[in-house]
Amino acid sequence: MLKDKNIVVGVTGGIAAYKAVDVVSRLIKKGANIDVIMTKSATKFVTPLTFQSLSQNFVTVDMFDEPKKWEVEHISLAQKADLFLIVPATANIIGKVACGIADDMLSTTIMATNSKVIFAPAMNTQMFRNPLFKQNMDKLKDLGYEFIKTDTGRLACGDIGEGKLAQPEIIVDYVEKSFIKDSKLKDKKVLITAGPTMQAIDPVRYITNHSSGKMGYSLAKSAKDKGANVTLISGPTNLKAPKGVNVINVKTTEEMFEAVDSHFEDCDILIKAAAPLDYRPEKVSKNKIKKKSSKLELKLVKNIDIAAHFGKLKEKQKIIGFAAETDNIVNNSKKKLKAKNFDMIIVNDVSKKDAGFKSDTNIVTIVDKNLNEESFPKMKKEELSELIIDKVSKLI
Ligand code: PMT
Repeated sequence: MLKDKNIVVGVTGGIAAYKAVDVVSRLIKKGANIDVIMTKSATKFVTPLTFQSLSQNFVTVDMFDEPKKWEVEHISLAQKADLFLIVPATANIIGKVACGIADDMLSTTIMATNSKVIFAPAMNTQMFRNPLFKQNMDKLKDLGYEFIKTDTGRLACGDIGEGKLAQPEIIVDYVEKSFIKDSKLKDKKVLITAGPTMQAIDPVRYITNHSSGKMGYSLAKSAKDKGANVTLISGPTNLKAPKGVNVINVKTTEEMFEAVDSHFEDCDILIKAAAPLDYRPEKVSKNKIKKKSSKLELKLVKNIDIAAHFGKLKEKQKIIGFAAETDNIVNNSKKKLKAKNFDMIIVNDVSKKDAGFKSDTNIVTIVDKNLNEESFPKMKKEELSELIIDKVSKLI
């Protein structure tokens, strides 16, 4: 969920500064890129080297330490931030920001950012109850700054009461949810098809294809992480359903069609990552076909084209198709986009190594409704899913 998000973490001088290390570590594990700015007093509790080692980014403390850097640093970090998190936030930094004071690297960068700013306060209970602090906090809340609720408990000074820093997992959860809250996909109904279909020949034999479902399952996870309400219609695969995704298991192309049909009207987005069989045996033998002659002819009849069917019916829905091609790749896919009334098509060259069916990676070109194309290098299907879902959210 936090993959490739730029989060600037401000650390101020309180005993809870050591918990910021845990917060930063958790955010990094979730894929965020972290830049840390510390106040001078924060460095009395934790060293910049700790955050630098964790984040692999230079930790900024004093604007004047790095005469060549600071001129751009507070502006570049302010612009780079997708989100600004101050943890722990002392009464001092909250008071300074509330009064528009920008006298060090952290307060200056907060003043210069347009990103969402979240404070995770931590202070002594009496300070927390002080009306001056409350006034500052309320003023900032009115201006759109956000505050993570403090815990109640035993504080470092021995007092028992409010003002204790929220637990690191609560802080990270708040950050994740705040990205979801801003996501265009929040509460959108996304229908995704994945995997192959399977058509029986007789009670023991069937035809299918090489689709593993990896691409579709990964898209389902990315859409779910962006706050969408995801239904995954899956052909036979060995994959575990992503958490929080509603899965409908199907076998044949007809069953996949019926499952899409019962959800299409209500959905906002349909992503057709499945590889449904275009043909099925005309007759399914009741008994196992015996080996009688040296040749066996199977008559196949055409299955319904699910994507084309719903492409004709769509009203508010956006439909994103995939194309598995081996030759004249982009042109064939542009024809498919038009014929099936897609809003976007993801083109895989399945003749390439490490692309398309079964592999963990893919190499694609994305073509939009106006036939603009953009080619991407080989990337993991998880990364590609994030990229596709970002593009899909821009269609809304
Ligand atoms: O599952 P993986 O191993 O991760 O592999 C991913 C994938 C290669 C299967 C996937 O990325 C992909 O390309 N899926 C589409 C494969 C396919 O059926 O392509 P197509 O060019 O035949 O079909 C074009 C589009 O029409 C597709 O969106 C397909 O879902 C849809 N279609 C096709 C046939 C049919 N009867 N009904 C359909 O809806």
